[in-house]
Amino acid sequence: MLTPAITAQPVLEFAADVRDGLTKPQKELLSKYLYDDVGSALFEVISVLPEYGLTRADERVLQRNGYDIVERLSLPLVVAELGSGSGKKTRWLLKALARRQHTAYCPIEISPTALAMCKRELGDMDSISIVGFEREYLDGLAEVAARRKSNQHLLVLFLGSTIGNFDRPAGMQFLRDIRGTLLPGDSLLLGTDLLKPIPQLLEAYADPLGVTAAFNKNLLARINHDLGADFELPYFEHVARFNNQARSVEMHLMSKREQTVTIPGAGFSVRFVEGETIWTESSHKYSKDEVFQMAGDSGFRCEAQWIDTEWPFAESLLVAH
Ligand SMILES: C[S@@+](CC[C@H](N)C(=O)[O-])C[C@H]1O[C@@H](n2cnc3c(N)ncnc32)[C@H](O)[C@@H]1O
Repeated sequence: MLTPAITAQPVLEFAADVRDGLTKPQKELLSKYLYDDVGSALFEVISVLPEYGLTRADERVLQRNGYDIVERLSLPLVVAELGSGSGKKTRWLLKALARRQHTAYCPIEISPTALAMCKRELGDMDSISIVGFEREYLDGLAEVAARRKSNQHLLVLFLGSTIGNFDRPAGMQFLRDIRGTLLPGDSLLLGTDLLKPIPQLLEAYADPLGVTAAFNKNLLARINHDLGADFELPYFEHVARFNNQARSVEMHLMSKREQTVTIPGAGFSVRFVEGETIWTESSHKYSKDEVFQMAGDSGFRCEAQWIDTEWPFAESLLVAH
C-alpha cells in the first residue's frame, strides 16, 4: 500500500535547484536528482558490480547479525527506512523481526521507481505490512512518527552509507533532525562505509564497465528530458576523485570542450570551459570510532556496532535517550 502520492519533486523545484547549482563557481547538482526511473534502475546494477563492495558488505552484516540486532530492540515497533532503494538487504532484518512480531514496514523514498521495486522485493513476506511513503526523508519520517500508536517504538533504518552523501556538518544536523522526531527508547540503525585504500574506493565509483558513469550522466539526460535542455552527453566525462580533506569520494561530470548548454525549463544558459566540472555526489567515509562520536553528539547512544571485515563497513545501533 502507498500513501496518496504527493509529487515529491515538482519540476519547478527541480528547475530552481538546477539553476542554483549550475550558477555556482563550482557547478553542482544535488545527488537526490540522480534517482529518476533510469537512475534507480542503474543504482541496482551498481550494487552488484564486483568493484562496488559496499552493498554486499552491508548485506552480509545484516544477514549474519539480524537476530542479534533485533534482540536489542524494544517491542512492539514500527520500522521506517530512509531511502530504502529496492529494500533487498532489509529482508534479513524483517525476517529476524518476524519471530517476535508482525511488522509495519514504511519505506520512505523520493523515487517512485525505487518504492515500486521495494514493494515487489518484499511483498512476499507474510510477517510485514508495507506502507510506502513517496516523500523526502524527514517529511516521510515525520508522517510515520505521527501515525504510530502510543505503545509502539520506532526503528529507523538508514542503510547503505547513504548518510555519506551529506558532508560531515550536514550529516550531523541530519542525525539531530532524526533524533528530533524520535522518542527516548527509539532507535536508528545506521550504515557507514569505512575508510579504505584510495585506489579501491576510486574503482568502486568508476567501474570499468561504465555503469557508474551512466548513472552519473543520466542526471544530464534527466535535465534534457524534464527541462528541455540540450546537454550533449558524449561531451561530458564521468570522473571520480578522492577528497583527502573531506575524506570523501566525489563524482563529477567534466566538460570535454568549451560549450554552452541551454536549459529552457529553468530559463537560462550555462557556459563550460574545457575541463570544468559539475559536482554531482559525495560519498564520505568514516572510522568506526567516529560513529560513536556522531551518535553522542546528536542525542543517541551507540548501543552496538557490527563490522564487515572483507569490505570494511559498519552497522551501528543508535538508541535515542
Ligand atoms: C544510495 S541509494 C541507497 C539505497 C539503499 N538504502 C541501499 O542501501 O542500497 C539512496 C536511496 O535514497 C533515495 N533518496 C535520495 N535522496 C532522498 C531524499 N532526499 N528523500 C528520500 N529518498 C531519497 C534514492 O532514491 C535512493 O533509492
